Amino acid sequence: MEVFKTKEALKAYLKPLKAEGKKVAIVPTMGALHNGHISLIKLAQENADVIICSIFVNPTQFTDPKDLEKYPRPIEHDLAMLDDAGCNGVFMPDVDEMYPSGADEDWQIDLGKAEFLLEGEFRKGHYQGVTQIVKKLFDAVEPDVAMFGQKDFQQVLMIKNMLTHFKLPIIIITCPIIREEDGLAMSSRNIHLSDTDRKNALVLSKSLQFVVDNFNSLSIKQLEDKAKSFYDTIEGVELDYFTIANGSTLEPAASKDEKSLVVLVAAKVGSTRLIDNMIIK
Ligand code: PAJ
Repeated sequence: MEVFKTKEALKAYLKPLKAEGKKVAIVPTMGALHNGHISLIKLAQENADVIICSIFVNPTQFTDPKDLEKYPRPIEHDLAMLDDAGCNGVFMPDVDEMYPSGADEDWQIDLGKAEFLLEGEFRKGHYQGVTQIVKKLFDAVEPDVAMFGQKDFQQVLMIKNMLTHFKLPIIIITCPIIREEDGLAMSSRNIHLSDTDRKNALVLSKSLQFVVDNFNSLSIKQLEDKAKSFYDTIEGVELDYFTIANGSTLEPAASKDEKSLVVLVAAKVGSTRLIDNMIIK
């Protein structure tokens, strides 16, 4: 597995492979890899010939500087996991390589109304930062295919909107959420959970599953109210939002007949903020 620190070295590696007609996939990550990330690498291998994983903790998408500071960075462990998975190349730039004129460089694009809903409401400017770095990563790799997880449902929508904005011909593949055996969605942030937090965190997947299981028998309001009540009895878990939403606009679902529906949650478990979702249809 090759490791690249600069865009130049990465481009030099990819150029002859592309000339041979090889299809290139990028799997953007912030590291602290787990099996969710590895599932993206595996799915990339089914859809392309050369797989590049990027590891970059992007400063412009963090709204809380403490969150950025405490973001885990187990590099040796990450490289070993990627090597085991058969990843071809890892792009690990430093901040100056991605933001040569500083992380406060200008970036503001129209991502549509959904930018300001859900995560966008709680993390102001988050999706500007995400699309800013993903555009830079796409420019560095010029991939045929890019892999993203459904875990960050809104992020996938925002990236698709960014592609439309720049008319980039990249195929986005959305990968299913990988969960622990008891249902907790895998996340780099889970390592911050104490034993009690870890048990409490199960309320996220349980409340989402409740909605999916009872979708046919209850109204939207009943589903949301009942699922939210799961959180009433758990100390140390604070709900940011729990909503059944239209899967394209992320607006609250007006009817159960909408073509695509998803139930999404964000909650603070102890001091760790977790998100999860399930697609209803
Ligand atoms: P990160 O949180 O490291 O996630 C990298 C990718 O892994 C994302 O597409 C995310 O949705 C996916 N992922 C995370 N947990 C998953 C799980 N349990 N199952 C399946 N996929 C999962 O998302 C980011 O990084 C950043 O915002 C990034 C896109 C890299 C831009 O900085």
